Amino acid sequence: MDYLEIQGGNRLHGTVTIDGAKNAALPLIAATILAQTPVTIDNLPRVNDIFTMLRLLENLGSTYTFEGNSATIDATTIDNTTAIYDIVRKMRASILTLGPLLARFGICKVSLPGGCAIGQRPIDLHLKALEMMGAEIEIKEGYVIATAPDGLKGATIVFDKITVTGTENIVMAAALAEGKTHIINAAKEPEVVQLCEIIRDAGIKIEGIGSDELVIHGSGGELIDIRHITVIPDRIEAGTYLCAGAITNSSITLEKVNHAHLVSIILKLQEMGYDFEIEKERITIKPASRIKPVRISTSEYPGFPTDMQAQFMALALIAEGTSTIEERLFENRFMHVSELNRMGAKITLNNHIATVEGNAELYGADVMATDLRASSALVLAGLIAKGTTRVHRIYHLDRGYVKLEKKLQKLGAKIERLKE
Ligand code: EPZ
Repeated sequence: MDYLEIQGGNRLHGTVTIDGAKNAALPLIAATILAQTPVTIDNLPRVNDIFTMLRLLENLGSTYTFEGNSATIDATTIDNTTAIYDIVRKMRASILTLGPLLARFGICKVSLPGGCAIGQRPIDLHLKALEMMGAEIEIKEGYVIATAPDGLKGATIVFDKITVTGTENIVMAAALAEGKTHIINAAKEPEVVQLCEIIRDAGIKIEGIGSDELVIHGSGGELIDIRHITVIPDRIEAGTYLCAGAITNSSITLEKVNHAHLVSIILKLQEMGYDFEIEKERITIKPASRIKPVRISTSEYPGFPTDMQAQFMALALIAEGTSTIEERLFENRFMHVSELNRMGAKITLNNHIATVEGNAELYGADVMATDLRASSALVLAGLIAKGTTRVHRIYHLDRGYVKLEKKLQKLGAKIERLKE
């Protein structure tokens, strides 16, 4: 297994290019199941989750090519509607095939994704919504067996909790359903908006895109005309590099970003004392004269993203004072705390609230990555810790960050990927 070795203490400089958003690309790949023809997707990030999703579609009978950051997927040849455990267990976002497969074929079997390090990750809201649309759902031997013999029917669906992939699954199911589907309490993340725009551009009338209420006028079973997609920039990758500039108090520039997706992250960094130069698709972070502590409470978009919570916890360690971070979305998304404390941090937990002491003296250590975003937080801490930090189990990192160590090396960090 690989690990990252980081020598702390280097300031960063220069420019980093942001890749396409993994969490936008995953539902878009699943949406090719709804398409009349092969679909070309550009700006696809070359990260493991994307390869897993492409392999899953291939296992269902699709074919694809993936050159550089562009893939052409032909899902018209799908002849198998079982998403097997061996692939789904690697990536819970495989559940995004449930809605489109059921809508197109009227029957499918998708392995239950199971939980992950950050929490149970139930899919009850996905299943309840599909039942409202006329599906019959059975859970058997670890699989969701869904049938809709007369096809899915439009329905009014109120999500008890805002769910990103739940909203995406139902938008895709509703696209082929008979009649109108009204989703209340829908997720509004940029990746949900892009999925709705792609389906609208493919001929499906959708009202309320970008709001928490969507009305989708289904095709009644006809496949739709999706041909070409360019994935939006990854707001979490961008936020992570802004934190890399902030934690080393350097000036670095990010290219190919959409700063409209970064408002809550930029505002928090401005609150901490950092300054920015924002142009069209570029954003430069400037050092802070004083780094102030921060209060963070994660919430659904456009609030502060839970996927940036770990990175800001690392950053809060260098603030002049005590910060508090509340994790409101997941029940167990503080695994990075014990690892940061092993590097000399003083972070205490009380239920879902972390209290982070500032002015931390961090020392390099061997630390263990536990989930995708926690891994990046440990790398950020390693950039400023005295001595050498080794981050192990970085397969977590490789799921969602393109060449993280290469991009940081280019910015002047002393970091390399080694073999255990
Ligand atoms: C998406 O996960 C993202 N993944 C996650 O990013 C992100 O952390 C999360 O949204 C929240 O923003 C992808 O988009 C592939 P949810 P998702 O359904 O859709 C509860 C990363 O780092 N819930 O919005 O699985 C759930 O337990 C990953 O890239 C139910 O109770 O998250 C959680 O508490 C990590 N029942 C809350 O809702 C359900 O049926 C939000 O979950 C569904 C969700």
